[in-house]
Amino acid sequence: MAAPIAESRSMPSLFDPIDLSPALQLPSRILMAPLTRGRATRDGVPTDLQRDYYAQRAGAGLIISEATGISREGLGWPFAPGLWSDAQVEGWKPVVAAVHEAGGRMVAQLWHMGRLVHDNVSGMRNISASATTAPHPAHTYDGKLALPEARAATLDDIERILGDYAAAARNAIAAGFDGVQIHGANGYLIDQFLRDGTNKRTDDYGGSVDNRLRFMTRVVEAMAAEVGIDRTGIRLSPVGESQGCDDRDNHGLFTAVAARLETLKVPWIELREPGPQSTFRATDEPPASPSMRAVYSGKLVLNSDYDATNAQATLDAGIADAISFGRTYIANPDLAERLRAGAELNAWNAKTFYTPGSEGYTDYPVLTEQAAA
Ligand SMILES: Cc1cc2nc3c(=O)[nH]c(=O)nc-3n(C[C@H](O)[C@H](O)[C@H](O)COP(=O)(O)O)c2cc1C
Repeated sequence: MAAPIAESRSMPSLFDPIDLSPALQLPSRILMAPLTRGRATRDGVPTDLQRDYYAQRAGAGLIISEATGISREGLGWPFAPGLWSDAQVEGWKPVVAAVHEAGGRMVAQLWHMGRLVHDNVSGMRNISASATTAPHPAHTYDGKLALPEARAATLDDIERILGDYAAAARNAIAAGFDGVQIHGANGYLIDQFLRDGTNKRTDDYGGSVDNRLRFMTRVVEAMAAEVGIDRTGIRLSPVGESQGCDDRDNHGLFTAVAARLETLKVPWIELREPGPQSTFRATDEPPASPSMRAVYSGKLVLNSDYDATNAQATLDAGIADAISFGRTYIANPDLAERLRAGAELNAWNAKTFYTPGSEGYTDYPVLTEQAAA
């Protein structure tokens, strides 16, 4: 057994409460990171299995849902959920209610995958900031398939997609979620507009950093107009290349992004910021969080490769306000309790990350079951 973490310290402990915003008051700084698991129906409707999975993890200070499509066009992951149809809203209601009943809080991560959508899943042509082709094959219902070149969004497309973001945010609140997180990370549509490797536009949405920030800015404004800025957060992955999406100056770009989010009064940002030793998309680029922290006064949540020890050390360093845990939450439904007790963690099984059914999904043991065994 590892030693329990001391709770008397001047910097906040992982177990101290935090207000991510006036609308999001969390009992601890241990968040569940967004995790695609592919257990919805083919129409993107959440299932009873998802209800059980999320309810098991309600001990997190906040659950960030798996990435959830804002539209058929934007959703290219097999059996991932959506939030554009009435059936999807109805499907999410019991999931979120079960989390609330178990004492938890949950926000919906809202997703448009842009050029990374294969028509095998969406039935539609992929779209992006510019006509570019993603370098890696996509997961589809027929295995991994090469992605075709995306078409460049017209100004009409942009207005339509902004409307989809707004509608999905409204639907998230109708389904009972406590807020929304914009998926601005990992090389998806917003990232494709932000970075100059994928944004070759010559209109108001491309070229200068200011122009490349425009799409993200308008997404924030469109969603906040529906649900309030207090219920709106964003996830970014500022360092390193992501699914072929990169910028000549990630640090300069994402410091400008943080400054813009400050102006917009976005209350919290989550950063997936792997280091060179990361087991999830490692990069040698130094972290951008210190320069982003310098221009952003909201709450900063850091992610990637955290355990109890390095998570508390990161809070102690004064850059992060909270930590989100991904794969450790897959394998440990009672992660917050385990961290508090200094207990051993279950290991995750990557083979069942995306497979159908309960195996590797709702069958990871909690401490009380292990003690009884
Ligand atoms: C199975 C799996 C699914 C993921 N799905 C998402 C997702 O839906 N949205 C997202 O922003 N990141 C997603 N990620 C990235 C994780 O949120 C997290 O950034 C990554 O696992 C590194 O954090 P960790 O070391 O705590 O696991 C996923 C990662 C894994 C392993």
